[in-house]
Amino acid sequence: MEIRRLKDLATLVSLSKRRGFVFQSSEIYGGLGSCWDYGPLGSLMKLNVKKAWWTAMTRRKDICGIDAAILMHPTVWKASGHVDGFSDPLVDCKECKTRFRADNTESYLKDKKCPNCGSKNLSEPRQFNLMFKTHMGPVEDTGSVVYLRPETAQGHFVNFMNCQTTTRYKIPFGIAAIGKSFRNEITPGNFIFRTREFEQMEMQFFVKPGSDESYFDQWKEIRQQFYVKYGFNVENLRMEPHGPTELAHYAKAAVDVQYKFPMGWSELEGIHNRSDFDLTQHAKFSGKTLEYFDEANKEKFVPYVIETAVGCDRLFLAFMCDAYREEVTKDDKGVEDVRVVLGLHPQIAPIKAAILPLSKKEELTSVAEKIREELAQEWDVQYDEAGSIGKRYRRQDEIGTPFCITVDFETANDQSVTVRHRDSMKQDRVALSQLESYIRNGLK
Ligand code: GAP
Repeated sequence: MEIRRLKDLATLVSLSKRRGFVFQSSEIYGGLGSCWDYGPLGSLMKLNVKKAWWTAMTRRKDICGIDAAILMHPTVWKASGHVDGFSDPLVDCKECKTRFRADNTESYLKDKKCPNCGSKNLSEPRQFNLMFKTHMGPVEDTGSVVYLRPETAQGHFVNFMNCQTTTRYKIPFGIAAIGKSFRNEITPGNFIFRTREFEQMEMQFFVKPGSDESYFDQWKEIRQQFYVKYGFNVENLRMEPHGPTELAHYAKAAVDVQYKFPMGWSELEGIHNRSDFDLTQHAKFSGKTLEYFDEANKEKFVPYVIETAVGCDRLFLAFMCDAYREEVTKDDKGVEDVRVVLGLHPQIAPIKAAILPLSKKEELTSVAEKIREELAQEWDVQYDEAGSIGKRYRRQDEIGTPFCITVDFETANDQSVTVRHRDSMKQDRVALSQLESYIRNGLK
């Protein structure tokens, strides 16, 4: 059997639309650039992605979670450096009016040419701030400007003292959050890889200065293990350190966890040593002390921060890319049969089991419906009675369902069903009384 991996994003965009993972936003109006909606399966899967990350972080005894507001006091973004420094160099082509980012456009970097029409009649690069601005309240003057947050991390810094005093955690400890962020990207694209509205999963680990480099290394290893646990092909992952000129304005050191997407190696997650930059800045701008008092050693210090930051949408995309495979077999005449499988980790798969009565006869559908009701108390399951059993199996393979449960004419006699496994296609006869624990074990 030949295995074909995902060759381009277009295949995934098409599967996503056809099966209800991701739709173009406002599609009936022609769509809104770089905005996407998660459909019936996509929204379930996205919740699973978030749950995997959230439990990996907050079930530790030294990390708490928060859910901070998107809109923050505007001075937060002055203190953080985003008002002055969160910008990309923008160039206008005076011929075809294309706008593009100067710092990652090959034709511009090489020969100062427009990537669209090749013209050299271009504007000088000017800094374009990526934050979305809006106004709070009914008066749209400069005093009412607020920003849609471009990262969730600032919510962690401004709540550092609130979290430390309420949890009574001692340093080192971390704060984790999942939430929407917004960036007015000049060149969004590659499906849900780079969008203007996206979700981030960020964790700030507050440590004693001097121990930061060791924790930075520990978090690289912890994050690598996360990807291994959820079944990523390790050859599709690598860690790329940032050179001194690539570092963000707040970072002392940084690595990108990169994934080999169909369009090439690209950042999936950032791990940063943010030093004491943010807490020091917020102390300065707010006038409040953000020092930690270490009881044991009777000393005060401003903690350093190790940050892990991954986009939920980007991780979702990486899961889809990594899981997609086509199993190709040929018959005697050389005619190909292609089984499309999303080999997602069972905890990430949107649907855990499909219940398939072999016929639409009431004696089978009533049992199948009862099984559906029972399993649905615990998991997201689907009921499907339309089409041949082979076609129904294939429909589930394509959306990554780990188990198909077939109710057949023997079920009434032997009180058992056939459970078919997505990856091996192995079939087991399982007693109805054992079904729930059988599925539970298989989902671990
Ligand atoms: N707090 C640090 C921070 O925000 P970042 O490297 O700019 O660091 C972290 O962003 C992660 O957020 C990225 O690795 C990526 O997964 C995700 N991300 C950033 N910009 C994005 C965008 N425009 N669309 C989708 N995901 C994005």
